[in-house]
Amino acid sequence: MKTAILGAACLIACSSSAFAANATRSAFGALSDGSKVEAVTLSNGAGMSARIMTLGATLQSLVVPDKAGHKDDVVLGYDTAQEYLSHPDYFGASVGRYANRIAKGKFAIDGKAYTLVTNDGPNSLHGGPKGFDKRMWKIDSVSNGPEAKVVLSYVSADGEEGFPGEMKVTATYSLNEQNELKLEYRATTLKPTVLNLTNHSYFNLSGNDARDVMGNMVTLNAARFTPVDATLIPTGERRAVAGTPFDFRTPHRVGDRIRDARDQQIRYGRGYDHNYIVDGAAGTLRPAAVVNDPVSGRTMEMQVSAPGIQFYTGNFLDGTFFGKGQHSYRQGDSICLEPGVFPDSPNHADFPTSRLNPGQAYVNTMVYKFSVR
Ligand code: BGC
Repeated sequence: MKTAILGAACLIACSSSAFAANATRSAFGALSDGSKVEAVTLSNGAGMSARIMTLGATLQSLVVPDKAGHKDDVVLGYDTAQEYLSHPDYFGASVGRYANRIAKGKFAIDGKAYTLVTNDGPNSLHGGPKGFDKRMWKIDSVSNGPEAKVVLSYVSADGEEGFPGEMKVTATYSLNEQNELKLEYRATTLKPTVLNLTNHSYFNLSGNDARDVMGNMVTLNAARFTPVDATLIPTGERRAVAGTPFDFRTPHRVGDRIRDARDQQIRYGRGYDHNYIVDGAAGTLRPAAVVNDPVSGRTMEMQVSAPGIQFYTGNFLDGTFFGKGQHSYRQGDSICLEPGVFPDSPNHADFPTSRLNPGQAYVNTMVYKFSVR
């Protein structure tokens, strides 16, 4: 109702760019233990909407018009909240405390050693078996206006999943009339700790289940990436992308070089599963990536403040998880672009720091701008 009133008022009095974006709060079912999940849907007058659920502060759906005006959901996921717990693959989730891998689940802060549960071969992945993606976040505020906004928060206890220091985290999603979805993670801690918060959306700009992403054109503003060992832990090298299948400084089809097994890094990643070092100064929002689906015309431009971005082509999706509308997700069905510090930073003194001290404010901002070409 509110949308209709605001919309009508603007039709008479305002230009279309003055349409107010709306945030609507609703129930989103319950988990098998009975806990209730809520969702907030942000929508604008340009046909975009984003649904965020409290489980994992997860981007559960993202509806974007194509070049003919058809609206489709462009992120992988499930129809019910419980499925996100039963078949976790971080679809759309807010990942923490440490997105990506920490070698052997071990690190030290000021000489004190910490051991995490290993949940990815010998390594710890995405904050451990019960990371932030599997926690219930609280809705702090919901607002309408030139942008629709929801702020979610989570308090992670001292020692949770092996990490030191009670940490307060917020995830703020906002959608404006220019089809920009902005996501900002903030955190403070009561003891020195390490963290890497990111969003793990799997994008398929064709509309979730129409086609794979091999024909998508990707640009990554990164002259270097961090090569990995066989367990996907960075070796410490910062390698130039020039002359390798990793060079996306100009647009390339995802599928063109993804099977080029002459490059050992393609073998280790089963395709792309690598951290790119985003050009320019970390800490300022700067263009990092563009993804274009030539068929639907949908284009996503990403700006990030983080030093790195993990480019992952869903290589571990094996067709055994059945997503929205009972669609089976397979390798190469989606693209993840996860902005953050580099993997295993706590064990690489010369990587951008993942340390947060009491009194400091952690901020990681990413903007996803949609248009059609
Ligand atoms: C990692 C992949 C991992 C996936 C899990 C990505 O961030 O880079 O290696 O399999 O997350 O969903």
